[in-house]
Amino acid sequence: MRMVDIIDKKRNGGELTKEEIQTFVDGVVSGEIPDYQTSAFLMATYFKDMTDAERSELTMAMMKSGDHLDLSSIDGIKADKHSTGGVGDKTSIPLAPIVAALGIPVPMISGRGLGHTGGTLDKLEAIPGYTVEISEKDFLKQVQDVKCAIVGATGNIAPADKKIYALRDVTDTVDSIPLIASSIMSKKIASGTDALVIDVKTGSGAFMKTLDDSRELAHALVEIGKGVGMDCMAIISDMNQPLGNAIGNALEIKESIDILKGNGPKDITDLVLTLGAHMVVMAKKADNLDDARKMCEQTITDGSALKKFGDMVAAQGGDRNVVDHPEIMPQAKFKIDLPAQKAGVVSKVAADEMGIASMLLGGGRQKADDKLDYAVGIMMNKKIGDQVKEGESLLTIYSDREDVDDIKKLLYDNIEISDHAEPVTLIHETIR
Ligand code: URA
Repeated sequence: MRMVDIIDKKRNGGELTKEEIQTFVDGVVSGEIPDYQTSAFLMATYFKDMTDAERSELTMAMMKSGDHLDLSSIDGIKADKHSTGGVGDKTSIPLAPIVAALGIPVPMISGRGLGHTGGTLDKLEAIPGYTVEISEKDFLKQVQDVKCAIVGATGNIAPADKKIYALRDVTDTVDSIPLIASSIMSKKIASGTDALVIDVKTGSGAFMKTLDDSRELAHALVEIGKGVGMDCMAIISDMNQPLGNAIGNALEIKESIDILKGNGPKDITDLVLTLGAHMVVMAKKADNLDDARKMCEQTITDGSALKKFGDMVAAQGGDRNVVDHPEIMPQAKFKIDLPAQKAGVVSKVAADEMGIASMLLGGGRQKADDKLDYAVGIMMNKKIGDQVKEGESLLTIYSDREDVDDIKKLLYDNIEISDHAEPVTLIHETIR
């Protein structure tokens, strides 16, 4: 079977067979299929989509391209959360220790930044010493002992996804339902979790811009999970403006610690508690969401979640002093405010462009092998619905260069001040 024929069939809208999909995945992993053909296949899939059967076959072929983690040595129901990616979305970082503080094992295998969105692993690497690459043996031991770990895909989890993910990032083929669904679910099935909550983002800063597309993605993810016997559900949450106030690696770690101290921004704290409550119910530690949410809140109030975060950081080689001294993370040379050009109500903060601004400052990758600047980013001082006076700071740019006129222009072009703002709904739907 020639790869060019498989590309041709997809390009013309045909439905690929299991064998054709297997040939593609095998060739990607072995290196037999060159990047230019993989890229062409990805672009064809982007435009022609895949049927449910193709989506499942692609997921399973990618999942089987590597190892399957056996978590059976860890006691209890293992619960995980995965997000489809957003701007300022650092929920995994406070969520894992909150849920783990309730005795629930959270084996989290996370990703790096993709497109304009940040990646949990990149953020955690802003903590001095923190390593996301640990052996499978150490990962299992850490989840058993500490109850949570946030790591990159260990050695050989879904190696097909590693290659495809990197190529999607640089070929503008990220926002495709079959490619996102197979990427997420191949890793999640291979990681062996029992229960999974998926946070599907919707809006300008998400890969799915409309509620309809987000709903379709959520259904695709949940169906693939259920098809292999996983307890799986999704929520659709808003990504029209950045989540929380911080965008940028070290800034987002600092905000995660604030959430764990009970001082986090309201929107992200609310989302973390909602996701946590679902995980607690799925892990059978509470009968209903209200009780589960109270249990999660209690881990913040009594400090157990913050301690758990410190334990996780230390177990992965990081400096747990970061909890009380976030300044041990890289610090930006310049902090530059963006003053409002008129008075009114903030009515739009385009999340994707805020993510791009942070990326252009050096906080994200423009090319697959770009090195990140952990210190840089943006702190939102005003969000949608906030009143602002002329000259008041809308946000602060954290930069290692003094001249940020290009960034300021991009930001001004993507923040609107009017006489009123539409209310923001944080959680749109729950899908089971
Ligand atoms: N997260 C993933 O793991 N894969 C995607 O394609 C998007 C978000």
